[in-house]
Amino acid sequence: MKIKNKKILIIIGGGISAYKSLDLIRLLKKNKNEVKVILTKSGKEFVTPLSITTLTNSKTFEDVFDKNSEAEIDHISLSRWADLIVVLPATANFMTKLSLGKAEDLATTVILASNKDILLVPAMNVRMWIHKATQRNVKTLKDYGYLFIGPEKGEMACGEYGEGKMSSPRQIFSFLDNYFNKKNIIKKRKLRALVTAGPTREYIDPVRYISNESSGKQGYEIAEALSRLGIETTLITGPTNLVSNKDIKTKKIITASEMFETVKKNLPVDIAVCAAAVTDFKPIYKSKSKLKKDNLRLKSFELQKNIDIVEFLSKNNKHRPKIVIGFAAETENLDKNALSKLKQKNCDIIIANDVSKKDSGFNSDYNRVSIIDNSGKIKVVKKNKKSFIANIIADIILDKILINDRSFN
Ligand SMILES: Cc1cc2nc3c(=O)[nH]c(=O)nc-3n(C[C@H](O)[C@H](O)[C@H](O)COP(=O)(O)O)c2cc1C
Repeated sequence: MKIKNKKILIIIGGGISAYKSLDLIRLLKKNKNEVKVILTKSGKEFVTPLSITTLTNSKTFEDVFDKNSEAEIDHISLSRWADLIVVLPATANFMTKLSLGKAEDLATTVILASNKDILLVPAMNVRMWIHKATQRNVKTLKDYGYLFIGPEKGEMACGEYGEGKMSSPRQIFSFLDNYFNKKNIIKKRKLRALVTAGPTREYIDPVRYISNESSGKQGYEIAEALSRLGIETTLITGPTNLVSNKDIKTKKIITASEMFETVKKNLPVDIAVCAAAVTDFKPIYKSKSKLKKDNLRLKSFELQKNIDIVEFLSKNNKHRPKIVIGFAAETENLDKNALSKLKQKNCDIIIANDVSKKDSGFNSDYNRVSIIDNSGKIKVVKKNKKSFIANIIADIILDKILINDRSFN
């Protein structure tokens, strides 16, 4: 399938590969897409507004304070007009500005005000690319949800060899093709997801409970990442300090039984991600009044197992989601223990997170995980922000759905 009838806003930055943007414009136009271009001040040193206007049949936008264009189309409506914004080349300098949230010219202001996905196509000298500052910016931007293609390895304009070469217009075109194809399938299929997050509490008496250290951050980030892809997402969350995005339908619960009942009420779904740290046990009896200290010291209380929500979903004949994902918090033999949980619970993917480290896992913004699927394939994600890991998980889910779904191929 070839993309057509899309509105693409291209921002051309000040790099030597700016000339390749003209080829991309030609490819897009040839396939009946509309293209508008913002040229940065440095970009103008490399390609001319005349070439761009000739290829796009549209004015080339340059200045945020352009009195002629402000009345007709401003920095807000430019981004509202677009289906996607593509920055090429995304220079080291431009990415620094984006990672700082700058709005100092038309290009950066449009991006900061944008409600659309933004694809960055980096191109620069290999030293600039591998510099810690650039890599830190790339990490931040991925964390904000920016999309990336490239850079590739190869010989550069400066004569050096390495990573930093811009992806070719053809590669970018097929990335866009794939991107819109996925969006189209999500829209057509009206995909629905359910995500559980946070801890549950099992009360012993009205003020005391058994719980765990889960902050809910990883689950909230996964819900955000799925929702950003256009998937209708319901988040069922135990007590946390977090606030979810208003596009996500959020249901707050306290106990594992409440979580279970709420999960059941929200079926059927296509995707279930069980990131909640459901308390495994609950007291058989909950005292109606606060237990006296002496009672606490003298009496022991009996526990019973809570229902396993992942297993319930995976083995549910009536409403089994197409993809069921469980989490396994482990302190040792991460992959081995997680794989046996995956088999026992019959889920499609298990995400093993290492909770033995103080700087990641429970109650941290960071995580380190192994994503294991039912064919035994393992993807290890080293320590990174939970939002970054959430984007990887969302991508894997979507790819799996698309591969399974022959009727849409
Ligand atoms: C001949 C020349 C080629 C350049 N090529 C690149 C490049 O490929 N990538 C890059 O990050 N910067 C490159 N630069 C530096 C950028 O032009 C400079 O950082 C500029 O401020 C970027 O502008 P922008 O933020 O509008 O993209 C180049 C500079 C010159 C003079």
